[in-house]
Amino acid sequence: MREPAISLHHLLGLEGVSRQDIQILLDTGFRFREVLERPIKKVPTLTGVNVVNLFFENSTRTRISFELAEKRLSAEVITFSVASSSLSKGEGLKDTVRNIHAMKMDAVVMRHPSPGAAVQLSQFVDAAVINAGDGAHEHPTQGLLDMMSLQEKFGHLEGLKVGIIGDVAHSRVARSNIFGLLTMGAEVTVCGPGHLIPPYIEDLGVGINHDVDELLTWADAVNVLRIQRERQGVGLIPSIREYRSQFGITNERLARHKKSIIILHPGPINRGVEIDSDVADGDQAIILDQVLNGVVIRMSVLYHLLGARVPQETN
Ligand code: CP
Repeated sequence: MREPAISLHHLLGLEGVSRQDIQILLDTGFRFREVLERPIKKVPTLTGVNVVNLFFENSTRTRISFELAEKRLSAEVITFSVASSSLSKGEGLKDTVRNIHAMKMDAVVMRHPSPGAAVQLSQFVDAAVINAGDGAHEHPTQGLLDMMSLQEKFGHLEGLKVGIIGDVAHSRVARSNIFGLLTMGAEVTVCGPGHLIPPYIEDLGVGINHDVDELLTWADAVNVLRIQRERQGVGLIPSIREYRSQFGITNERLARHKKSIIILHPGPINRGVEIDSDVADGDQAIILDQVLNGVVIRMSVLYHLLGARVPQETN
């Protein structure tokens, strides 16, 4: 199949990415779902293309998902997982640039604890740079896979009411969701404790509601963020029990609402904190759809960014 082209050379964030480009990436993701249904889940699309995965910060889902996507497209893959504690930002990126030049890589997938690291890298390498999460800045493929999962569930994004609950201040997932969903015509309201909702957030075009029950009355779907203990100072949430009682998504809370609200969570889940196990494992949650869509949306991103380097065929 031949897909329409996107206008991006890198995927650094969803801020400023056009509605047309996002829709093309989602549409190609849906088409790649068919590849994952085949007995041999592999196409030769990126044969001979070299991709390096650089993870300067821990990851389970994103790293495995990118590796799977690259292998499903027959790319040559190298993965480095580097403990962030052993590198200063400047040294890490300088070494990264030198290595990428030396290894003649076609694409770099990078997770880094510093906001802006992917943008910085893209200024020094010819390779396509894909941001796999940079500090609290953006996580664009997570935003895309969340939108794909919502589009799959509802059939559209235009006019959809999406709540984002939790630690918005420290969340790159929240920012990529906000940029992507607003571009696609959805409405977004964020919800959480006052000190975890940054004051600038309304300027992005989202609503704020600190009452989770009101949010659930309004929303078609909610994306439940995990409490990022590793990004916070000590004591920002004085009591987990209090947080769960005020903001946690529990079956008792969902049962108060007549409609069936769709629940997303980017993972990793703190069960019993921001979401209860019976909700995370229940019918309203589409968390495993998100994981599946994560593989195909990353196949789509790789296909579109690297398409100019190989013949435009996906099978
Ligand atoms: N959703 C997400 O980014 O998970 P990981 O940190 O495990 O990659």
